[in-house]
Amino acid sequence: MIAEALEWLVTPCPLYVRRLGLLAESIAISARHRRCRRAWAPHLAATRQAILEAVARTPRRRTALIMGSGALHDVPIAELADAFERVLLVDLVHPWPARLRTRHLPQVTLVTDDVTGTLEAVARGEIVPARPFAPLSDPEVDLAVSLNLLSQIPSVPVRRLEGRVADSTLASAVQRLVNAHLSDLGLSRAATLLISDVERVVTDRDGLEIERTSLIAELPEPQADRSWWWDIAPAPEIDTRSSERRRVIARFVPSASGTESL
Ligand SMILES: C[S@@+](CC[C@H](N)C(=O)[O-])C[C@H]1O[C@@H](n2cnc3c(N)ncnc32)[C@H](O)[C@@H]1O
Repeated sequence: MIAEALEWLVTPCPLYVRRLGLLAESIAISARHRRCRRAWAPHLAATRQAILEAVARTPRRRTALIMGSGALHDVPIAELADAFERVLLVDLVHPWPARLRTRHLPQVTLVTDDVTGTLEAVARGEIVPARPFAPLSDPEVDLAVSLNLLSQIPSVPVRRLEGRVADSTLASAVQRLVNAHLSDLGLSRAATLLISDVERVVTDRDGLEIERTSLIAELPEPQADRSWWWDIAPAPEIDTRSSERRRVIARFVPSASGTESL
């Protein structure tokens, strides 16, 4: 607890990101990763593998854009730095372990930015339309990865604005934010890889389902090449009697008009 409080104090990030609880969440994710390392291993391996396969299928390798890089648990950073002239790691929080791991990689740049461009307003209690994320239209970007980030796009505004904005207004606003990120990816000329948890399932001790929730604002799931389970909180992580799993999907789209898939 003391180590986590200290981390909260010393991790550089914008004030609005702290206010939205994203720094606390990033610290909590890493703490959970330490506790659930074994349960998370297949998900992290599947994510890294999908990224490595996307790299192999991206013939031109100037800049790789990784959105949602966070603590780099699921990022094969050494391989990306070897393969690309430049790697841009985008997140609102770059924890110290990620800063230290990339310090000696001159190709890697940490970019602190919000892919939706809306969260500063959300922190003030307002909903504004998403703006296109400029690096996605940079012609130097050959591979763009949206990394376990899509599900956070609705959850952050909902947590902040629930009860302050009419439910129906909030529900449609977060759907527009999710769609805006997907369409940003779709419009990019780079090869794109979308990896996202899309559904949360809670099971009891016998493995029977007791709850199922959309993580992408009840929208239809994006088309996927593959999917797997992320055992994010096996009992007793949150509750001694139940476990939480998330279904994760991955979809690779080659640059411009190609049709190759994973
Ligand atoms: C579930 S984590 C992804 C896992 C991460 N790659 C890791 O290894 O820790 C999602 C990441 O997305 C970031 N994030 C959430 N909303 C964002 C936004 N609008 N713009 C940029 N990053 C965002 C969070 O700070 C978090 O680090």
